[in-house]
Amino acid sequence: MLKKSMEKALNQQINAELSSAYLYLSMSAHFQAMNLKGFANWMRVQAMEEFTHADRLSAYVLDRGGRVQLMAIDSPPLTWESALAVFQDTYRHEQKVTSLINDLVDLAIKEKDHATNNFLQWFVNEQVEEEANAEALVQQLKLTGDAGPGLLMLDRELAQRAFIPPAPAA
Ligand code: FEO
Repeated sequence: MLKKSMEKALNQQINAELSSAYLYLSMSAHFQAMNLKGFANWMRVQAMEEFTHADRLSAYVLDRGGRVQLMAIDSPPLTWESALAVFQDTYRHEQKVTSLINDLVDLAIKEKDHATNNFLQWFVNEQVEEEANAEALVQQLKLTGDAGPGLLMLDRELAQRAFIPPAPAA
């Protein structure tokens, strides 16, 4: 059985993951409106991944006899100044999520909740990849430039990203 403090914190993380999905869907719609369909695809896949993160947390809370309480999600921004600004926001956002995951691990350790600490390690590892992906795109956009042929080449590359459902939690 989950302690109430842990249950509350995990529910807050479910909200943070769904908020991330909302943010990335808005970024996807922004790129679609700019006719950058590859960028839009990348962000839509990112949003789908965030939904699976929320789903993984929900399944865990339920497995441990907790209640899943869905909370309100704030509206994300509608537009960004440039593709670079979108990915700078993405990178900052993922750094924030990493710090939320680290706080959850700290709480699990404080509460001596070894099962939750173990469960959260998947997210600790996932965040390394999440930050690396976003930072790589910030660097690429700085190199190729934020307009013209470089941007269109990157758009074609990002069109290749496909959603791969993650393996279920053990
Ligand atoms: Fe679920 Fe992008 O962190």
